Amino acid sequence: MCSIIGYYGNKTASPIIVKGLKRMEYRGYDSVGVATESNHQIELKKGIGKVNEVNSKVQLDSLPGKIGIGHTRWATHGKVTDFNAHPHQSNSGKIAIVHNGIIENFEELKKKLQDEGYNFKSETDSEIIANLLQKHYEKTKDVKETIMKTVSEIKGHYAFVAMFENGQLAAARFHEPLIIGVGHDDFFLSSDVLGFIEFTDDAIYLENGNFVILDENKFQILDFHGEHAKYGITKVSKEFGDAYKGDYAHFTLKEIYEQPETVLKAGEKTMEAIEKTADYIKNAKNIYVTGSGTSFNSALIAKQILSKYVKIKAEPVMSSELQFSPDSIEENSIIIAISQSGESADVLDAVKIGKQANCKIIAIVNLMTSSLAREADVVIGMNCGPEIGVAATKSFTSQLVILYKIVQKLNNDITINFENFSKSVLKILENPRKIQQIAKELKEISDIYILGRGINYPIAIETALKLKELTYIHAEGIAGGELKHGPLALMDSSVFVIIINPNDSTYSDTLTSAREIKARGAKVIGVSDIESDVYDYWIEMPKIDEVLYPISEIIPIQLLSYYAALEKNTDPDYPRNLAKSVTVK
Ligand code: F6R
Repeated sequence: MCSIIGYYGNKTASPIIVKGLKRMEYRGYDSVGVATESNHQIELKKGIGKVNEVNSKVQLDSLPGKIGIGHTRWATHGKVTDFNAHPHQSNSGKIAIVHNGIIENFEELKKKLQDEGYNFKSETDSEIIANLLQKHYEKTKDVKETIMKTVSEIKGHYAFVAMFENGQLAAARFHEPLIIGVGHDDFFLSSDVLGFIEFTDDAIYLENGNFVILDENKFQILDFHGEHAKYGITKVSKEFGDAYKGDYAHFTLKEIYEQPETVLKAGEKTMEAIEKTADYIKNAKNIYVTGSGTSFNSALIAKQILSKYVKIKAEPVMSSELQFSPDSIEENSIIIAISQSGESADVLDAVKIGKQANCKIIAIVNLMTSSLAREADVVIGMNCGPEIGVAATKSFTSQLVILYKIVQKLNNDITINFENFSKSVLKILENPRKIQQIAKELKEISDIYILGRGINYPIAIETALKLKELTYIHAEGIAGGELKHGPLALMDSSVFVIIINPNDSTYSDTLTSAREIKARGAKVIGVSDIESDVYDYWIEMPKIDEVLYPISEIIPIQLLSYYAALEKNTDPDYPRNLAKSVTVK
């Protein structure tokens, strides 16, 4: 998703900005640009492609000046073109902006500005911010008044940084993240701490509806009515700046291989919050578990394990769907919101709906300083370190471990030896050769189906998601029992079917489904701790406690998806069209 950055200080801004944009590359983008101010003049360079590509073409990092802004764009309004890339300059050229989010009333505002004589070079919603700022600045000659007037006119979700030709920098936040990095003699404005972590670990998380003005090395933080706003300086975890691949070819592979460790660390620093969550669950009238993508798949597992091991009913709710049925949330319930980034707009919206219904919010997040963490009553930390690969891997298994830890608090009879489990994960990862061989078989195929029953069904859905993202192969998770109700029609020799089939109560029914599939000529990959002649390819799962089957099933699947991506020559870390932190709806 778009990343924004601003620098105000005593060093040359453009190399710092380019570095920050590179660190935030994992968020996903299609074009990049930088603008700086020097001698009361704004200079701007931008283009389509990766930061390094555009930089070697136009030397973004050679722009002069000690104040600057930069952006990586993930297209929402308008195609991927040089003109649509940020920064955007106002008609006078005296103001430049970078923006993250969506301006919902941009068409109306654009028309109004056009009627007043303003021209637009791009198809974006963002360019209207630059011209609105110009209009108000020309009248008021005051940055504070200008920002206040501008934010009162725009509707939507946004964070923007505006650079004025007179050397002032301002930034406003409304439902999109914006963080101020406070250095010794300089300031950073960024959508992500990775944008400045190399330079400072002191951060101010700008509150929603606040803006900041940087002027001659001092800053003021105000609310949208112009009143001074409260803020605090937080020390951000340096660990999140440690995002290097090391000896691994890709972040995704590194993150898959970190799992023997991360399954031990999940929730470890927030055990009190886990206990508190168990207490809330015990006393709750209704429990909803919400999330998006992979985190929603964790919510599906939460439902299964709470009912199986604690006899408690929990309802999984897809965050992006909740806005269409807000009344389905009963008052005074609890909402467990799961999000690696803690910044997914859909999840934040779901939480807002929950708060309106007076619900307690429990957040399971990786980023403890994220917007979701700050909205929640109780915060449980995944504690798995930065996840840079766009596809969620280690964060998923950490989420599941946390859910199991909650279950353990609710039912003392459930004993889980996570140390042993960590060893099993290591064993799966130690010998990837067979998985690499199977990945070769997936190179030319266009459809994969994944079958699982009961608690293994969410894993089938998660498998489909991993394969789609990493390999671009059409993949679909199917509940085993549904096969005969339709999907069987699709089975022929052109398709592969992955059977998630551990030795639990679903085993024999799922094996029967595998036979029915094989009889139609499809190739069958079995993920199981029991070998069978039905499987054309067998991915052996270690013999472990049944409770932990779901977590151990997904690990070979992550490897398979990764190696299949290599076979297909796609970039596993940055799949096309996707972003790591989906901060727009
Ligand atoms: C899948 C994936 C996405 C995220 C989803 C939610 O591999 O990465 O589906 O799971 O965008 O992200 P978070 O957990 O940050 O809210």
